[in-house]
Amino acid sequence: MKNFKYQNPTKILFGKGQLENLAEEIPSNAKVLLLYGGGSIKKNGIYEQVQEALKPFEVIEFGGIRANPEYSILMQALEIIKSQKISFLLAVGGGSVIDGTKFLSAAAFYKGETPWDLLTQKIASTNALPFGTVLTLPATGSEMNSGAVITRAETKEKLAMGGPALFPKFSILDPQVIRSIPPRQLANGITDAFNHVLEQYITYPVGASLQDRMAESVLQTLIEIAPAVMQDPSDYTAASNFMWSCTMALNGILPLGVPTDWAVHAIGHELTALHGIDHARTLAIIAPSHYRHNFESKKDKLAQYAERVWNITEGTTAAKAQESIVKTEEFFQGLGINTKLSQYTDNYERTAQTIMKRFTERGWTGLGENKNLTPTDVEKIVEMAY
Ligand code: NZQ
Ligand code: ZN
Repeated sequence: MKNFKYQNPTKILFGKGQLENLAEEIPSNAKVLLLYGGGSIKKNGIYEQVQEALKPFEVIEFGGIRANPEYSILMQALEIIKSQKISFLLAVGGGSVIDGTKFLSAAAFYKGETPWDLLTQKIASTNALPFGTVLTLPATGSEMNSGAVITRAETKEKLAMGGPALFPKFSILDPQVIRSIPPRQLANGITDAFNHVLEQYITYPVGASLQDRMAESVLQTLIEIAPAVMQDPSDYTAASNFMWSCTMALNGILPLGVPTDWAVHAIGHELTALHGIDHARTLAIIAPSHYRHNFESKKDKLAQYAERVWNITEGTTAAKAQESIVKTEEFFQGLGINTKLSQYTDNYERTAQTIMKRFTERGWTGLGENKNLTPTDVEKIVEMAY
Protein backbone atom coordinates (compact mmCIF):
# COMPACT_ATOMS: atom_id res chain seq x y z
CA MET A 1 0.00 0.00 0.00
CA LYS A 2 1.25 3.50 -0.80
CA ASN A 3 1.45 6.35 1.74
CA PHE A 4 -1.52 8.68 1.91
CA LYS A 5 -3.08 11.65 3.67
CA TYR A 6 -6.83 11.89 3.93
CA GLN A 7 -9.27 14.54 5.01
CA ASN A 8 -12.86 14.99 3.94
CA PRO A 9 -14.72 17.80 5.71
CA THR A 10 -18.11 17.40 3.98
CA LYS A 11 -20.98 16.69 6.37
CA ILE A 12 -23.52 14.25 4.90
CA LEU A 13 -27.20 14.32 5.83
CA PHE A 14 -28.51 11.09 4.33
CA GLY A 15 -32.08 9.81 4.12
CA LYS A 16 -35.77 10.61 3.89
CA GLY A 17 -36.78 14.10 4.85
CA GLN A 18 -33.27 15.43 5.54
CA LEU A 19 -34.09 18.59 3.60
CA GLU A 20 -36.01 19.75 6.66
CA ASN A 21 -32.65 20.18 8.40
CA LEU A 22 -31.24 22.48 5.73
CA ALA A 23 -31.56 25.76 7.65
CA GLU A 24 -29.46 24.46 10.57
CA GLU A 25 -26.51 23.89 8.25
CA ILE A 26 -26.33 27.43 6.84
CA PRO A 27 -24.80 30.29 8.89
CA SER A 28 -27.71 32.25 10.42
CA ASN A 29 -26.80 35.63 8.93
CA ALA A 30 -26.05 34.28 5.44
CA LYS A 31 -27.19 35.91 2.24
CA VAL A 32 -27.83 32.86 0.08
CA LEU A 33 -27.61 32.35 -3.67
CA LEU A 34 -29.75 29.34 -4.62
CA LEU A 35 -28.37 27.74 -7.79
CA TYR A 36 -30.21 25.18 -9.89
CA GLY A 37 -30.40 23.67 -13.36
CA GLY A 38 -32.83 23.65 -16.26
CA GLY A 39 -35.96 23.39 -14.15
CA SER A 40 -36.42 19.75 -13.07
CA ILE A 41 -36.60 20.89 -9.43
CA LYS A 42 -39.66 22.97 -10.26
CA LYS A 43 -41.48 19.90 -11.61
CA ASN A 44 -40.67 17.39 -8.88
CA GLY A 45 -41.43 19.48 -5.78
CA ILE A 46 -37.81 19.87 -4.61
CA TYR A 47 -37.87 23.61 -5.33
CA GLU A 48 -40.83 24.19 -2.99
CA GLN A 49 -39.22 22.14 -0.24
CA VAL A 50 -35.99 24.13 -0.54
CA GLN A 51 -37.90 27.43 -0.54
CA GLU A 52 -39.68 26.38 2.63
CA ALA A 53 -36.42 25.37 4.32
CA LEU A 54 -34.73 28.64 3.32
CA LYS A 55 -37.41 30.87 4.85
CA PRO A 56 -35.13 32.23 7.61
CA PHE A 57 -32.66 33.59 5.04
CA GLU A 58 -32.39 36.32 2.49
CA VAL A 59 -32.28 34.34 -0.77
CA ILE A 60 -31.52 35.24 -4.38
CA GLU A 61 -31.91 32.65 -7.15
CA PHE A 62 -29.96 31.73 -10.23
CA GLY A 63 -31.40 28.97 -12.47
CA GLY A 64 -30.31 27.63 -15.85
CA ILE A 65 -27.06 25.80 -15.02
CA ARG A 66 -27.63 22.97 -17.46
CA ALA A 67 -25.76 19.71 -18.05
CA ASN A 68 -22.04 20.30 -18.64
CA PRO A 69 -22.06 23.65 -16.82
CA GLU A 70 -21.15 26.44 -19.19
CA TYR A 71 -18.57 29.06 -18.31
CA SER A 72 -20.39 32.02 -19.89
CA ILE A 73 -23.57 31.25 -17.91
CA LEU A 74 -21.62 30.86 -14.69
CA MET A 75 -20.00 34.24 -15.30
CA GLN A 76 -23.50 35.78 -15.12
CA ALA A 77 -23.99 34.18 -11.71
CA LEU A 78 -20.58 35.49 -10.62
CA GLU A 79 -21.78 39.03 -11.34
CA ILE A 80 -24.74 38.48 -9.01
CA ILE A 81 -22.52 37.03 -6.27
CA LYS A 82 -20.32 40.11 -6.38
CA SER A 83 -22.98 42.79 -6.82
CA GLN A 84 -25.33 41.28 -4.21
CA LYS A 85 -22.56 40.46 -1.72
CA ILE A 86 -23.66 36.84 -1.46
CA SER A 87 -22.10 34.98 1.49
CA PHE A 88 -23.30 31.40 0.95
CA LEU A 89 -24.03 29.30 -2.15
CA LEU A 90 -26.59 26.49 -2.21
CA ALA A 91 -26.49 24.09 -5.17
CA VAL A 92 -29.69 22.13 -5.78
CA GLY A 93 -29.14 19.65 -8.58
CA GLY A 94 -26.89 17.01 -10.07
CA GLY A 95 -23.18 17.12 -10.79
CA SER A 96 -23.53 20.00 -13.24
CA VAL A 97 -25.14 22.40 -10.77
CA ILE A 98 -22.77 21.34 -7.99
CA ASP A 99 -19.70 21.70 -10.22
CA GLY A 100 -20.91 25.09 -11.46
CA THR A 101 -21.31 26.14 -7.83
CA LYS A 102 -17.79 24.97 -6.99
CA PHE A 103 -16.44 27.05 -9.84
CA LEU A 104 -18.36 30.09 -8.55
CA SER A 105 -17.18 29.46 -5.02
CA ALA A 106 -13.55 29.60 -6.23
CA ALA A 107 -14.11 32.37 -8.79
CA ALA A 108 -15.67 34.66 -6.17
CA PHE A 109 -12.33 34.77 -4.33
CA TYR A 110 -10.03 34.56 -7.36
CA LYS A 111 -7.82 37.62 -7.75
CA GLY A 112 -6.14 36.76 -11.07
CA GLU A 113 -6.91 38.05 -14.54
CA THR A 114 -9.77 35.73 -15.53
CA PRO A 115 -11.47 32.90 -13.61
CA TRP A 116 -10.90 30.63 -16.65
CA ASP A 117 -7.30 30.45 -15.32
CA LEU A 118 -8.71 28.21 -12.59
CA LEU A 119 -9.31 25.61 -15.32
CA THR A 120 -6.31 26.09 -17.59
CA GLN A 121 -3.61 26.74 -15.01
CA LYS A 122 -4.55 24.02 -12.54
CA ILE A 123 -4.75 26.50 -9.65
CA ALA A 124 -5.73 24.62 -6.49
CA SER A 125 -8.44 26.62 -4.75
CA THR A 126 -7.49 27.13 -1.12
CA ASN A 127 -9.87 29.98 -0.37
CA ALA A 128 -13.47 29.96 -1.54
CA LEU A 129 -17.00 31.10 -0.77
CA PRO A 130 -18.70 28.46 1.43
CA PHE A 131 -21.39 26.32 -0.20
CA GLY A 132 -23.68 23.39 0.47
CA THR A 133 -25.57 21.03 -1.82
CA VAL A 134 -28.91 19.30 -2.14
CA LEU A 135 -28.21 16.38 -4.46
CA THR A 136 -30.96 15.50 -6.95
CA LEU A 137 -29.09 13.01 -9.15
CA PRO A 138 -26.72 10.28 -7.88
CA ALA A 139 -23.80 9.94 -10.30
CA THR A 140 -20.73 12.11 -10.01
CA GLY A 141 -19.84 12.10 -6.31
CA SER A 142 -19.38 15.85 -6.59
CA GLU A 143 -21.49 16.18 -3.43
CA MET A 144 -18.60 14.83 -1.34
CA ASN A 145 -15.46 15.71 -3.25
CA SER A 146 -13.53 18.86 -4.13
CA GLY A 147 -13.42 18.57 -7.93
CA ALA A 148 -15.44 20.22 -10.69
CA VAL A 149 -15.60 20.04 -14.48
CA ILE A 150 -16.52 23.13 -16.47
CA THR A 151 -17.29 23.52 -20.18
CA ARG A 152 -16.57 26.45 -22.47
CA ALA A 153 -18.66 26.24 -25.64
CA GLU A 154 -16.72 29.03 -27.35
CA THR A 155 -13.55 26.91 -27.48
CA LYS A 156 -15.20 23.46 -27.22
CA GLU A 157 -13.20 22.76 -24.06
CA LYS A 158 -14.18 20.81 -20.95
CA LEU A 159 -11.63 21.04 -18.15
CA ALA A 160 -11.33 20.02 -14.51
CA MET A 161 -10.48 22.11 -11.46
CA GLY A 162 -10.47 21.64 -7.70
CA GLY A 163 -8.74 22.32 -4.41
CA PRO A 164 -9.08 21.80 -0.67
CA ALA A 165 -11.53 24.72 -0.29
CA LEU A 166 -14.00 23.15 -2.72
CA PHE A 167 -15.52 20.45 -0.55
CA PRO A 168 -19.17 21.24 0.15
CA LYS A 169 -19.79 22.29 3.79
CA PHE A 170 -22.67 19.81 3.75
CA SER A 171 -24.65 17.71 1.30
CA ILE A 172 -28.22 16.57 1.69
CA LEU A 173 -28.79 13.14 0.16
CA ASP A 174 -32.42 12.08 0.13
CA PRO A 175 -32.71 8.99 -2.10
CA GLN A 176 -36.38 9.77 -2.77
CA VAL A 177 -35.25 12.40 -5.29
CA ILE A 178 -34.50 9.73 -7.86
CA ARG A 179 -38.22 9.08 -8.41
CA SER A 180 -38.39 11.82 -11.04
CA ILE A 181 -35.12 11.06 -12.83
CA PRO A 182 -35.62 9.88 -16.43
CA PRO A 183 -34.24 6.40 -17.35
CA ARG A 184 -31.47 7.92 -19.48
CA GLN A 185 -30.08 9.83 -16.50
CA LEU A 186 -30.47 6.87 -14.13
CA ALA A 187 -28.42 4.76 -16.56
CA ASN A 188 -25.88 7.56 -16.80
CA GLY A 189 -25.59 7.76 -13.02
CA ILE A 190 -24.94 4.03 -12.61
CA THR A 191 -22.42 4.05 -15.47
CA ASP A 192 -20.56 7.13 -14.24
CA ALA A 193 -20.20 5.76 -10.70
CA PHE A 194 -19.13 2.35 -12.05
CA ASN A 195 -16.40 4.00 -14.11
CA HIS A 196 -15.26 6.09 -11.15
CA VAL A 197 -14.51 2.88 -9.30
CA LEU A 198 -12.81 1.30 -12.32
CA GLU A 199 -10.50 4.33 -12.71
CA GLN A 200 -9.29 3.76 -9.14
CA TYR A 201 -9.17 -0.04 -9.29
CA ILE A 202 -8.19 -1.33 -12.75
CA THR A 203 -4.50 -0.41 -12.44
CA TYR A 204 -1.87 -2.76 -10.93
CA PRO A 205 -1.84 -4.61 -7.59
CA VAL A 206 -0.15 -2.95 -4.60
CA GLY A 207 -1.44 -5.22 -1.84
CA ALA A 208 -4.15 -2.79 -0.71
CA SER A 209 -6.63 -5.50 0.22
CA LEU A 210 -9.16 -3.30 1.97
CA GLN A 211 -9.30 -0.67 -0.79
CA ASP A 212 -9.65 -3.41 -3.42
CA ARG A 213 -12.52 -5.02 -1.55
CA MET A 214 -14.19 -1.66 -1.00
CA ALA A 215 -13.96 -0.92 -4.72
CA GLU A 216 -15.34 -4.38 -5.50
CA SER A 217 -18.21 -3.83 -3.04
CA VAL A 218 -19.25 -0.62 -4.75
CA LEU A 219 -19.12 -2.34 -8.16
CA GLN A 220 -21.11 -5.34 -6.89
CA THR A 221 -23.68 -3.09 -5.26
CA LEU A 222 -24.14 -1.09 -8.45
CA ILE A 223 -24.57 -4.30 -10.48
CA GLU A 224 -27.04 -5.61 -7.90
CA ILE A 225 -29.25 -2.52 -7.67
CA ALA A 226 -29.15 -1.47 -11.33
CA PRO A 227 -32.17 -3.54 -12.49
CA ALA A 228 -34.32 -2.39 -9.55
CA VAL A 229 -33.36 1.27 -9.97
CA MET A 230 -34.08 1.18 -13.71
CA GLN A 231 -37.38 -0.64 -13.25
CA ASP A 232 -38.74 1.30 -10.30
CA PRO A 233 -36.97 4.44 -9.08
CA SER A 234 -39.45 4.67 -6.20
CA ASP A 235 -37.91 1.49 -4.69
CA TYR A 236 -36.34 3.21 -1.67
CA THR A 237 -33.96 0.39 -0.76
CA ALA A 238 -32.52 0.31 -4.27
CA ALA A 239 -32.46 4.12 -4.45
CA SER A 240 -30.60 4.51 -1.18
CA ASN A 241 -27.97 1.94 -2.12
CA PHE A 242 -27.61 3.57 -5.52
CA MET A 243 -27.17 7.03 -4.05
CA TRP A 244 -24.63 6.02 -1.40
CA SER A 245 -22.67 3.90 -3.89
CA CYS A 246 -22.31 6.90 -6.20
CA THR A 247 -21.05 9.06 -3.34
CA MET A 248 -18.64 6.37 -2.10
CA ALA A 249 -17.31 5.86 -5.62
CA LEU A 250 -15.76 9.32 -5.70
CA ASN A 251 -15.41 10.78 -2.21
CA GLY A 252 -11.69 10.10 -1.90
CA ILE A 253 -11.88 6.81 0.03
CA LEU A 254 -11.16 4.39 -2.82
CA PRO A 255 -7.89 5.95 -4.10
CA LEU A 256 -6.15 5.91 -0.71
CA GLY A 257 -2.87 4.03 -0.98
CA VAL A 258 -3.48 2.75 -4.51
CA PRO A 259 -2.51 3.95 -8.01
CA THR A 260 -5.26 5.65 -10.00
CA ASP A 261 -5.75 5.97 -13.74
CA TRP A 262 -8.28 8.68 -14.85
CA ALA A 263 -7.30 8.48 -18.53
CA VAL A 264 -10.81 7.30 -19.44
CA HIS A 265 -12.23 10.51 -17.97
CA ALA A 266 -9.60 12.70 -19.63
CA ILE A 267 -10.47 11.22 -23.02
CA GLY A 268 -14.20 11.09 -22.28
CA HIS A 269 -14.34 14.79 -21.48
CA GLU A 270 -13.11 15.47 -25.01
CA LEU A 271 -15.97 13.44 -26.49
CA THR A 272 -18.44 15.59 -24.56
CA ALA A 273 -16.65 18.79 -25.57
CA LEU A 274 -16.46 17.80 -29.25
CA HIS A 275 -19.70 15.87 -29.76
CA GLY A 276 -21.96 16.78 -26.82
CA ILE A 277 -22.25 13.15 -25.66
CA ASP A 278 -23.46 12.65 -22.05
CA HIS A 279 -20.49 12.32 -19.68
CA ALA A 280 -21.25 8.76 -18.53
CA ARG A 281 -21.70 7.54 -22.10
CA THR A 282 -18.29 8.83 -23.11
CA LEU A 283 -16.82 6.59 -20.39
CA ALA A 284 -18.73 3.56 -21.64
CA ILE A 285 -17.31 4.26 -25.12
CA ILE A 286 -13.69 4.67 -24.02
CA ALA A 287 -13.24 2.27 -21.08
CA PRO A 288 -13.35 -1.03 -23.02
CA SER A 289 -10.83 0.16 -25.63
CA HIS A 290 -8.63 1.63 -22.92
CA TYR A 291 -8.51 -1.68 -21.05
CA ARG A 292 -7.81 -3.61 -24.26
CA HIS A 293 -5.07 -1.22 -25.34
CA ASN A 294 -3.40 -1.33 -21.90
CA PHE A 295 -4.10 -5.00 -21.37
CA GLU A 296 -0.61 -6.14 -20.36
CA SER A 297 -0.20 -3.61 -17.54
CA LYS A 298 -3.77 -4.01 -16.29
CA LYS A 299 -4.41 -7.72 -16.74
CA ASP A 300 -3.74 -8.77 -13.13
CA LYS A 301 -6.35 -6.35 -11.76
CA LEU A 302 -8.72 -7.15 -14.62
CA ALA A 303 -8.48 -10.84 -13.73
CA GLN A 304 -9.11 -10.06 -10.05
CA TYR A 305 -12.12 -7.97 -11.10
CA ALA A 306 -13.31 -10.89 -13.27
CA GLU A 307 -13.13 -13.32 -10.37
CA ARG A 308 -14.46 -11.20 -7.55
CA VAL A 309 -17.04 -9.06 -9.30
CA TRP A 310 -18.17 -11.18 -12.25
CA ASN A 311 -17.55 -14.64 -10.74
CA ILE A 312 -15.39 -15.74 -13.70
CA THR A 313 -13.25 -18.44 -12.13
CA GLU A 314 -12.20 -20.59 -15.10
CA GLY A 315 -9.29 -19.99 -17.48
CA THR A 316 -5.94 -18.24 -17.51
CA THR A 317 -5.30 -14.78 -16.06
CA ALA A 318 -5.45 -13.32 -19.59
CA ALA A 319 -8.66 -15.14 -20.49
CA LYS A 320 -10.42 -14.00 -17.30
CA ALA A 321 -9.19 -10.46 -17.84
CA GLN A 322 -10.49 -10.42 -21.43
CA GLU A 323 -13.84 -11.80 -20.32
CA SER A 324 -14.18 -9.06 -17.66
CA ILE A 325 -13.96 -6.38 -20.36
CA VAL A 326 -16.76 -8.09 -22.32
CA LYS A 327 -18.87 -8.31 -19.13
CA THR A 328 -18.30 -4.60 -18.51
CA GLU A 329 -19.44 -3.71 -22.03
CA GLU A 330 -22.51 -5.92 -21.64
CA PHE A 331 -23.34 -4.27 -18.33
CA PHE A 332 -23.36 -0.81 -19.92
CA GLN A 333 -25.30 -2.07 -22.93
CA GLY A 334 -27.83 -3.69 -20.60
CA LEU A 335 -28.54 -0.22 -19.22
CA GLY A 336 -29.31 0.97 -22.75
CA ILE A 337 -25.92 2.63 -23.22
CA ASN A 338 -24.14 2.28 -26.56
CA THR A 339 -20.43 1.57 -26.33
CA LYS A 340 -19.18 2.77 -29.74
CA LEU A 341 -18.59 6.36 -30.79
CA SER A 342 -20.16 5.81 -34.24
CA GLN A 343 -23.46 5.00 -32.50
CA TYR A 344 -23.59 8.63 -31.28
CA THR A 345 -22.32 10.65 -34.23
CA ASP A 346 -21.60 10.23 -37.95
CA ASN A 347 -18.90 12.83 -37.65
CA TYR A 348 -16.38 10.72 -35.74
CA GLU A 349 -13.54 10.01 -38.15
CA ARG A 350 -11.22 12.86 -37.17
CA THR A 351 -11.98 12.64 -33.44
CA ALA A 352 -8.99 10.49 -32.47
CA GLN A 353 -6.55 12.77 -34.26
CA THR A 354 -8.13 15.92 -32.81
CA ILE A 355 -7.85 14.57 -29.26
CA MET A 356 -4.26 13.45 -29.88
CA LYS A 357 -3.37 16.97 -31.03
CA ARG A 358 -5.13 18.62 -28.07
CA PHE A 359 -3.37 16.42 -25.54
CA THR A 360 -0.02 17.10 -27.21
CA GLU A 361 -0.63 20.87 -27.13
CA ARG A 362 -1.61 20.72 -23.46
CA GLY A 363 1.48 18.68 -22.62
CA TRP A 364 -0.65 15.73 -21.50
CA THR A 365 1.98 13.29 -22.66
CA GLY A 366 1.96 10.73 -19.85
CA LEU A 367 -1.52 9.76 -18.64
CA GLY A 368 -2.67 6.77 -16.62
CA GLU A 369 -1.39 5.06 -13.48
CA ASN A 370 2.04 4.52 -15.04
CA LYS A 371 2.18 8.04 -16.52
CA ASN A 372 3.22 6.54 -19.84
CA LEU A 373 0.08 6.82 -21.99
CA THR A 374 1.12 9.08 -24.87
CA PRO A 375 -1.12 11.12 -27.17
CA THR A 376 -0.45 8.45 -29.82
CA ASP A 377 -1.81 5.78 -27.44
CA VAL A 378 -4.83 7.99 -26.83
CA GLU A 379 -5.37 8.27 -30.59
CA LYS A 380 -5.32 4.46 -30.90
CA ILE A 381 -7.74 4.02 -27.98
CA VAL A 382 -10.24 6.45 -29.51
CA GLU A 383 -9.91 4.76 -32.94
CA MET A 384 -10.58 1.39 -31.30
CA ALA A 385 -13.78 2.92 -29.86
CA TYR A 386 -15.15 4.04 -33.27
O1 NZQ B 1 -31.02 20.74 -15.32
P1 NZQ B 1 -32.22 20.06 -14.72
O2 NZQ B 1 -33.50 20.55 -15.25
O3 NZQ B 1 -32.16 20.01 -13.23
O4 NZQ B 1 -32.19 18.53 -15.23
C1 NZQ B 1 -31.11 17.65 -15.00
C2 NZQ B 1 -30.25 17.44 -16.25
O5 NZQ B 1 -30.99 17.63 -17.42
C3 NZQ B 1 -31.66 16.27 -14.76
N1 NZQ B 1 -31.99 15.99 -13.36
C4 NZQ B 1 -31.20 16.13 -12.27
N2 NZQ B 1 -31.86 15.73 -11.16
C5 NZQ B 1 -33.10 15.37 -11.56
C6 NZQ B 1 -33.18 15.54 -12.95
N3 NZQ B 1 -34.31 15.27 -13.63
C7 NZQ B 1 -35.36 14.83 -12.95
N4 NZQ B 1 -35.35 14.61 -11.61
C8 NZQ B 1 -34.24 14.86 -10.88
N5 NZQ B 1 -34.22 14.61 -9.54
O6 NZQ B 1 -30.61 15.38 -15.16
C9 NZQ B 1 -29.88 15.99 -16.21
C10 NZQ B 1 -28.41 15.77 -16.00
O7 NZQ B 1 -27.96 16.49 -14.86
P2 NZQ B 1 -26.39 16.67 -14.58
O8 NZQ B 1 -26.24 17.42 -13.33
O9 NZQ B 1 -25.74 17.21 -15.82
O10 NZQ B 1 -25.91 15.17 -14.44
P3 NZQ B 1 -24.73 14.54 -13.64
O11 NZQ B 1 -25.00 14.52 -12.19
O12 NZQ B 1 -24.47 13.26 -14.32
O13 NZQ B 1 -23.50 15.55 -13.85
C11 NZQ B 1 -22.71 15.52 -15.00
C12 NZQ B 1 -21.63 16.56 -14.92
O14 NZQ B 1 -20.72 16.27 -13.82
C13 NZQ B 1 -19.37 16.19 -14.32
C14 NZQ B 1 -19.57 15.75 -15.74
O15 NZQ B 1 -18.44 15.97 -16.54
C15 NZQ B 1 -20.77 16.57 -16.17
O16 NZQ B 1 -20.38 17.87 -16.50
N6 NZQ B 1 -18.56 15.34 -13.45
C16 NZQ B 1 -18.21 15.83 -12.24
C17 NZQ B 1 -17.40 15.14 -11.38
C18 NZQ B 1 -17.02 15.67 -10.06
N7 NZQ B 1 -17.29 16.93 -9.78
O17 NZQ B 1 -16.46 14.98 -9.23
C19 NZQ B 1 -16.85 13.81 -11.73
C20 NZQ B 1 -17.52 13.19 -12.89
O18 NZQ B 1 -16.64 12.27 -13.45
C21 NZQ B 1 -17.96 14.12 -13.96
O19 NZQ B 1 -16.89 14.48 -14.81
ZN1 ZN C 1 -17.36 10.63 -14.23
